[in-house]
Amino acid sequence: MGHRVAVYGASGYAGGEVVRLVDAHPDLETAYLGAHSAAGASLRSVHPQLGGGERVLGPIDPEACGDVDLAFLALPHGASAPVGVALAERGVKVVDLGSDFRFATPGAYTAAYGTDHPHPEELGRWAYGLPELFGDRIAGSDRTAAPGCYPTAAVLALAPLLAAGAVDPEGIVVDAVSGVTGAGRGARADLSFGAVADGVRAYGLLTHRHRPEMEEAVTAFAGTSVEIVFTPHLVPMQRGILATCHARWRGGGDPAATLRDAYREARFVEVIDEPPQTRWTVGSNRCLLAAYLDDRTGRVIVLSAIDNLIKGAAGQAVQCANLMLGLDEGAGLSVAGWMP
Ligand SMILES: NC(=O)c1ccc[n+]([C@@H]2O[C@H](COP(=O)([O-])OP(=O)(O)OC[C@H]3O[C@@H](n4cnc5c(N)ncnc54)[C@H](OP(=O)(O)O)[C@@H]3O)[C@@H](O)[C@H]2O)c1
Repeated sequence: MGHRVAVYGASGYAGGEVVRLVDAHPDLETAYLGAHSAAGASLRSVHPQLGGGERVLGPIDPEACGDVDLAFLALPHGASAPVGVALAERGVKVVDLGSDFRFATPGAYTAAYGTDHPHPEELGRWAYGLPELFGDRIAGSDRTAAPGCYPTAAVLALAPLLAAGAVDPEGIVVDAVSGVTGAGRGARADLSFGAVADGVRAYGLLTHRHRPEMEEAVTAFAGTSVEIVFTPHLVPMQRGILATCHARWRGGGDPAATLRDAYREARFVEVIDEPPQTRWTVGSNRCLLAAYLDDRTGRVIVLSAIDNLIKGAAGQAVQCANLMLGLDEGAGLSVAGWMP
């Protein structure tokens, strides 16, 4: 029998992908599925693409899951905090896919979200769930805050170059595009087919909360504060993020070689010799990187592609859970995607 897990937010995009991955996992089994407005409905009614559709969704109540080893929280911002703390206090390991526990200090959280954190004493207790860079901390933790999808792509691209002192920590630019599933499943006029198809738009200019999250995560590698200009864009595709990261090159070696060296043991990060396409990562837990040095401007460009719902959310959460439960890091996860 595998480890018993709960999935809170199972009716959403990210939670549905967690359920799909857990159902196919050799060492995990779903013991509880929680939902908000869909509580009481069958899994089939919200995710007809999944097997075991007769399973009934329970409420978002930390007591309702009973005796489980680990809980995944795929809930909106603000909804994870009370559930995550209550579960952790009961001795349940928690992987939060949301943003409630990603910052290490109450000050950083308030600066990013404009409100006080309901459990400031918890901040700093949660591992930042990027296994390729913080694997030891995750493996030793009972509480993990999985990164946002844009930070996953950008931090994997930038951290090794900052750690090597190869790029300037100031003046970094991250321009990134995302598919519509990055915004979740809720109905919104600005995410309707008519509003998204055949066009591209920037959003969250200067204020997107993934910018301070990226800066905090890479600061640990730069050894000094890092300044990033981040501009996200919405493009008419279902899944995928492509982050184009520009930084001033300080010299010393080859950026692709530095990235290859940093990820030589990482089975889900691959450095390739051509610009990665989001479609090559769809359905897989892989991050594809490619780095180019522009001698003319003294800039390095790193391209980073992921599936926002897998390496950017559910797959990464399962990767963290594997480490926290002492399982093989890649159990239940695929490096192969699907295409077209
Ligand atoms: N989408 C991505 O690419 C992505 C990537 C990384 C991280 N994340 C994070 O993962 C979390 C879930 O994202 P998502 O895209 O899956 O969102 P989603 O599709 O909108 O799903 C949200 C889930 O939360 C539940 N919910 C809604 N309002 C709630 C409330 N007030 N209290 C408790 N539960 C509530 C929903 O239940 P009902 O549907 O039953 O109402 C649903 O199960 C978010 O924190 C998001 O930032 C998402």
